[in-house]
Amino acid sequence: YPIFAQQGYENPREATGRIVCANCHLAKKSVNIEVPQSVLPNTVFEAVVRIPYDLQVKQVLANGKKGSLNVGAVLILPEGFELAPPDRVPPEMKEKIGNLFFQPYNNNNKNILVIGPVSGKKYSEIVFPILSPNPAISREAHFLKYPIYVGGNRGRGQIYPDGSKSNNTVYNASTTGRISRISRREKGGYDIAIDEISDGHEVVDIIPAGPELIISEGESVKIDQPLTNNPNVGGFGQGDAEIVLQDPLRIQGLLLFLGSVILAQIFLVLKKKQFEKVQLAEMNF
Ligand code: HEM
Repeated sequence: YPIFAQQGYENPREATGRIVCANCHLAKKSVNIEVPQSVLPNTVFEAVVRIPYDLQVKQVLANGKKGSLNVGAVLILPEGFELAPPDRVPPEMKEKIGNLFFQPYNNNNKNILVIGPVSGKKYSEIVFPILSPNPAISREAHFLKYPIYVGGNRGRGQIYPDGSKSNNTVYNASTTGRISRISRREKGGYDIAIDEISDGHEVVDIIPAGPELIISEGESVKIDQPLTNNPNVGGFGQGDAEIVLQDPLRIQGLLLFLGSVILAQIFLVLKKKQFEKVQLAEMNF
């Protein structure tokens, strides 16, 4: 969950560029972000994040049963950009956003937004309403090209913040030996007793409800060999986009310049026509 990231990391983007969700959501899946090529200062615009997956698939839930997937995302905006206040979001954008409540990552990072978990069926496409800064007012904002980073996830993670495994991942043999006994646990899952090859000790590996066994009694296993399949059908992905904070004066200046070039060209042609007429008049036959 994004809250695990908020509690565990001051900044969700590591120095390597990796977004921290990937530390617990181990499978890689795609995400996609769409933003305008440029925005004017103090303007509300939308960033569209798509977290595609096959809506038919089910995943193992915490209780071992199967259920649908949820999605969540983190959006890392340039400094100065922030969530648009509700009264500035136009109605047609509100419609696209739906019932989502975005949150700043923490008090120091108002430019980083998180959302989720929310239903993946409804929100595999998430529209973030964003307000661009005004360099005339805020000092950290400049008319520049900025990167925007996004991380998007569907499905449950593999590791809890305390380091323990969730039941949505593969379980491996903790030792090398022969599987002497497989017994079902009361609340689902299995106890797998392995007779260690080195000293004959019995080691019991506990598999929670969820993953399916791929080994059977009597089989020999090596340490770290998978005992179960990998039930995870979700995954995390990250991407980026670029956006220009555009100064309206620059656009006006450019238009003015282009206009003057056109005018100059027209007058040059007119002058040439006039000169040709003088040449004709001066011609002697
Ligand atoms: C579950 C997103 C960071 C561990 C989820 C779910 C979402 C999500 C949407 C619900 C999936 C579902 O119900 O189908 C994210 C995002 C993150 C992030 C966007 C980064 C901003 C983390 C981190 C950890 C983590 C850092 C580990 C410390 C888990 C686990 C679950 C989970 C274990 C399953 C919980 C359960 O059902 O018992 N996450 N997550 N996540 N996440 Fe994350």
